[in-house]
Amino acid sequence: MSKTKVWIIGAKGRLGSTISDALDRMAYNVLTSDMDVDITDMDSVTAFMDMSHPAVVINCAGYNTHNWLEEDMVKAFRVNAIGARNVASASRKVGAKLIHMSTDDVFDGRGNEPLNEFDTATPDTIFGKSKLAGENFVRELNPKHLIVRSSWVYAKEGSCFVNSVIRQAKEGGVIQVAAEQYSSPTSAKVLADFVMKMIDANEYGIYHASCEGCCSRVEAAEEILRCMGQDPTGRIEEISAEAGKNSPRRTDLQNLMMKVTGIYQMPEWKDAMRDYIQELRG
Ligand SMILES: NC(=O)c1ccc[n+]([C@@H]2O[C@H](COP(=O)([O-])OP(=O)(O)OC[C@H]3O[C@@H](n4cnc5c(N)ncnc54)[C@H](OP(=O)(O)O)[C@@H]3O)[C@@H](O)[C@H]2O)c1
Repeated sequence: MSKTKVWIIGAKGRLGSTISDALDRMAYNVLTSDMDVDITDMDSVTAFMDMSHPAVVINCAGYNTHNWLEEDMVKAFRVNAIGARNVASASRKVGAKLIHMSTDDVFDGRGNEPLNEFDTATPDTIFGKSKLAGENFVRELNPKHLIVRSSWVYAKEGSCFVNSVIRQAKEGGVIQVAAEQYSSPTSAKVLADFVMKMIDANEYGIYHASCEGCCSRVEAAEEILRCMGQDPTGRIEEISAEAGKNSPRRTDLQNLMMKVTGIYQMPEWKDAMRDYIQELRG
């Protein structure tokens, strides 16, 4: 029996590399690309798609920015919106299912409740707006799509909130953390397991896929210290919002579609965090 051909885009990033490392080569024919197939270039995407004819495309490419500069805005929309448009259009042409990665930042974070797939996304950042524009292109251009939103993703490779706290914890001293930001730290490994499950699932639409439970960045940092065998008392300093940076927000995602379909159960964020740090400590 021929293997399902899966193309992972953004395969050198945190999530893309985690999926690539975990995908069973006995079951899947795995193709990977990163900047060598620039998704902002329609001709490159179409050429690769026409040549390789994948059955499933997983788009993990993205550009994250917290700036409001015009050049960042242009880059964010180029990669997150136009890139997604190109991948969606080319994948539809070859009949491929598209699994497109998105973010809790499509929500403005002003509410007080967990956000589910049926809540209206009203982003308030350039990053969030560009990711929502990408989602909309995906929905319009390839009906065989899955949009997977997650939050505060961490992995061994690359910089992220969790790795930054771990590094500072090793150095000792006080760790500065943004105050009043709430969401769910999510292990790339756990997220990759869900994405891999969706390759063969007969499921479409938007799925939230964050670890279960909500915490503040302060609580996350305290838990990281505890997992490292350190006492968090007096080790965390909360920093307040200033000039549009570190603004208070709550964007924890409720995995409602997973519960409605019964297809998957994400672990609690503390359990996934403990496993991650244990693995790092070898
Ligand atoms: N990290 C999070 O907390 C988080 C949370 C929710 C959702 N997500 C979403 O999940 C996806 C994967 O996130 P991640 O954390 O794995 O991101 P990442 O580590 O930044 O990886 C993205 C990869 O895409 C590549 N890339 C950038 N522009 C490209 C282009 N034009 N063509 C082809 N490849 C390009 C990047 O290359 P360079 O490094 O050379 O730029 C990088 O290797 C993204 O869509 C992100 O928005 C992430």
